[in-house]
Amino acid sequence: MTTPDTRPTEAKRLADIDWNNLGFSYIKTDLRYLSYWKDGEWDEGRLTGDNRLHIAEGSTALHYGQQCFEGLKAYRCADGSINLFRPDQNAARMQASCRRLLMPELPTDRFIDACVQVVRANEHFIPPYGTGGSLYLRPFLIGVGDNIGVRTAPEFLFSVFCTPVGPYFKGGLTPSNFITSLYDRAAPNGTGAAKVGGNYAASLLPNYEAKKRDFADVIYLDPATHTKIEEVGAANFFAITKDGRRFVTPQSPSILPSITKYSLLWIAKHRLGLEVEEGDVRLDRLGEFAEAGACGTAAVITPIGGIQHGETFHVFYSETEPGPVTRRLYDELTGIQFGDREAPEGWIV
Ligand code: COI
Repeated sequence: MTTPDTRPTEAKRLADIDWNNLGFSYIKTDLRYLSYWKDGEWDEGRLTGDNRLHIAEGSTALHYGQQCFEGLKAYRCADGSINLFRPDQNAARMQASCRRLLMPELPTDRFIDACVQVVRANEHFIPPYGTGGSLYLRPFLIGVGDNIGVRTAPEFLFSVFCTPVGPYFKGGLTPSNFITSLYDRAAPNGTGAAKVGGNYAASLLPNYEAKKRDFADVIYLDPATHTKIEEVGAANFFAITKDGRRFVTPQSPSILPSITKYSLLWIAKHRLGLEVEEGDVRLDRLGEFAEAGACGTAAVITPIGGIQHGETFHVFYSETEPGPVTRRLYDELTGIQFGDREAPEGWIV
């Protein structure tokens, strides 16, 4: 006979978390932040335990994709303190997404305050230092209210929830393989640079088809000519030249400006002494690179073992080990995030 588990649900939920083996999946945490916009202004906002939204059936977010979101993380440091990594950059990117989709912007201080409130209220869900896990925050802003025409919504809702996570790609620092996509996630003058749901809806089928063929995800090419690398699934792309001296990453108006990518550009230049290049990464340049990787808040740095393009499989450093420069970038970035290395001014809240 088994003894019934009489612990309160919350305690059970926490005790059941295997902190050393977190993946990237949803675990319900205690409190989330909500604020409404109506008649031209945001209300004061509040925390709630309810993880369900009650919104109008005609909400533009549901029909016309009028919504945007962000992803950032809180890290438990060795001394027990908690670091939020560059939340001002997420606030600024969300404001840019709002401008693109004709939604009201949330001021940076309000965005950061909401994130801090959610982290404080769910502090016990932050994975312990040393496990490699972190608390992923998902701010989002959506058009709501009664509506039917294709127009901007009469009301908006901003929310932040959080969930403890481990690596986004199964392998973590073990390289993953990718395949170039015949599909595009965004149009040349579309919404690729904004963090909006439509780009991710467009990525579901390519991702599904890539996984069926045992690839971790797809490499998106530039939508106009399909000759240049743009993104790696929901992450940005970088590569290191064969002489180990140059960090190269694509630049294009249809790429999401990854905060991790811009942090790596800075780290590569100022901490590793590399030359940095943001420009076209044509497929015929792959032979120039010794290492390649995907980078993003969720992906952190995921080494790319190889890329399948048509009939050709191009292997970089190794299919089993991260390359040496990728490893140094990873150590420096995560060292800053977890408070083990000195952070540039303003990067940590
Ligand atoms: C992130 O890196 O935060 C992302 O947005 C990727 C994804 C899980 C959508």
